[in-house]
Amino acid sequence: MIRTDARDVSNPRTQFVCNACGGSAVKWQGQCPHCGAWNALIETRSEGGAARRRATATGAASAVAIGEVTAAEPRRLFTGIEELDRVLGGGLVDGGVVLIGGDPGIGKSTLLLQALAKLAASEAVLYVSGEESAAQVALRAQRLGIEADRLPRLRVLAEIELETVIAAIEAEKPRVVVVDSIQTLFTPALSSAPGSVSQVRECAASLTRLAKRSGAVVVLVGHVTKEGALAGPRVLEHMVDTVLYFEGDTNSAYRLVRAFKNRFGAIHELGVFAMTDRGLRGVSNPSALFLSQQGDGKGGLVPGSCVMVTQEGSRPMLVEIQALVDAAHVPNPRRLCVGVDPQRLAMLLAVLSRHAGVATYDQDVFVNAVGGVRIDEPASDLAVLLAVLSSIRNRPLPRAMVVFGEVGLAGEIRPAARGLERMREAAKIGFSTALIPKANAPRKAFEGLEVIAVETLTEAIGELRLR
Ligand code: TYD
Ligand code: MG
Repeated sequence: MIRTDARDVSNPRTQFVCNACGGSAVKWQGQCPHCGAWNALIETRSEGGAARRRATATGAASAVAIGEVTAAEPRRLFTGIEELDRVLGGGLVDGGVVLIGGDPGIGKSTLLLQALAKLAASEAVLYVSGEESAAQVALRAQRLGIEADRLPRLRVLAEIELETVIAAIEAEKPRVVVVDSIQTLFTPALSSAPGSVSQVRECAASLTRLAKRSGAVVVLVGHVTKEGALAGPRVLEHMVDTVLYFEGDTNSAYRLVRAFKNRFGAIHELGVFAMTDRGLRGVSNPSALFLSQQGDGKGGLVPGSCVMVTQEGSRPMLVEIQALVDAAHVPNPRRLCVGVDPQRLAMLLAVLSRHAGVATYDQDVFVNAVGGVRIDEPASDLAVLLAVLSSIRNRPLPRAMVVFGEVGLAGEIRPAARGLERMREAAKIGFSTALIPKANAPRKAFEGLEVIAVETLTEAIGELRLR
């Protein structure tokens, strides 16, 4: 959300805009008054304020009864990359604006060039590159095995000036435009530097208007800064129709694309890709990717490791949670999470202390979800707690066991959505035991899977002999 100080209307020329949240302030401060980010306020000049004030409504708009409006399903355009179409909620939508964010080098340009090459078989598409020259784009296409000679409809423009880009889009009339990246675009109408919040916002707003006007699909690429904040693009999230983020460990070959916002489909869908020497390949069956290569790959052989089944979008996936609990040598013990919510971990440690009598106030606790995957569903609670406890006790969990279930503050184990699907997937991959919430227990025996159903944390700990 963009918040503005009421006072800054009094001085339309200079204001300070936060790079993290887009909020503004009249004078410079070390900390953003809106989101609390440090050193994020940047001086910007807001030209065009007077012009904007002049351009107030001229005629009365007429509202209509909703029943009189024909509800038209938007036209879908499949990119031909199945995993990408999946996160998009079933392909691109005409006139839709998509923002794709992610760390530098994670594969945004690669994926989009691959998608455009597929689309170019039947549609006119335009790749606007502000970061690479046309020759570099052609070289990348060649490396990706794209037969450029046979794709006259795939057009490239190396340009950073917004007005030129818009003119080119209007002349070329592509069905899909990729702007790589929004931070490199600039409009001379604003005096601030390319990549600054006001430039990014203005350029994105112009391109969004163009998309709505022309019906072209506009895909904006946005870089995430080192701190994890999407400098600039963060402030675009509310402007665009769909926001996708790349995640995953750049050291591993796997890349996840997650939908954060989607006006045209479900969110929390996940596209899974593997980076190969010929670009990104969709992984249609990712369920066993996020297990470490420890032991037989089914987990449970080393203390501190627990395999959970998470339900990401429409597919269940097995993810190994690793925990290391070690004596702290500083007064404030560390809690470090990778891929797991740290707030949630703090809560789980409190539950562990109160309901299992295991205190961690003098211990460092590190928790990691293998493979750079991020889990944000509460059904991971039980797996996180058991991984922590297994590390504390220095005793491994049973081999080939999967776990899921939410842990409540009273130490109760709450059911997870779509439990049966999770169990089916675990059995399919070859797991033989499932520790699950009682409310998720199947009515009849589950083939190939021994089910241990528990109602409380104490019961789970008892079953696993981790007391
Ligand atoms: P890129 O798409 O340029 O990342 P972004 O646009 O998000 O900054 O991805 C570049 C990385 O991908 C780089 O580290 C090299 C690697 N890569 C491959 O492994 N295989 C390939 O076929 C290509 C084109 C890139
Ligand atoms: Mg790039």
